[in-house]
Amino acid sequence: MYQELRQQLAALLKGETDPIANAANTSALLYDALPDVNWVGFYFLKGQELVLGPFQGKPACVRIPVGKGVCGAAAVRRDTVLVPDVHAFPGHIACDSASNSELVVPLIKHGTLIGVLDLDSPSLGRFDEADRAGCDSLAAIFLDSLKE
Ligand code: SME
Repeated sequence: MYQELRQQLAALLKGETDPIANAANTSALLYDALPDVNWVGFYFLKGQELVLGPFQGKPACVRIPVGKGVCGAAAVRRDTVLVPDVHAFPGHIACDSASNSELVVPLIKHGTLIGVLDLDSPSLGRFDEADRAGCDSLAAIFLDSLKE
């Protein structure tokens, strides 16, 4: 499944370096292809805040301070955060009350954090280690598409 998604994403982003266009198409592809997700999108780092970027799903919180919520935790840890039950995660920010589990991948380009890719599901424990590895690899394809 992720192997096929990697090919689709690479084809979709080929020849384009615009971060907004590529983030928009990445979130649209993942939202459409992954079962049981209710939100997929980007936050980009601006100063000390993560600011909402292209996404699919219900309207979401616009600004998340680094260190807050699951997104902010992934940004600080610079490591993918997998949360089986968001209600048990201290400081979780509830944008869509339907969300019960979450996976957040930090986006690091040449050692610099530029944002995060956030996936939410209405199901508890929706994401596993295969999703973590798969979404890490998809985020890497998005990062590769951006200008050097
Ligand atoms: N739940 C996230 C906030 C972003 S929304 O889910 C789109 C968090 O705790 O960081």
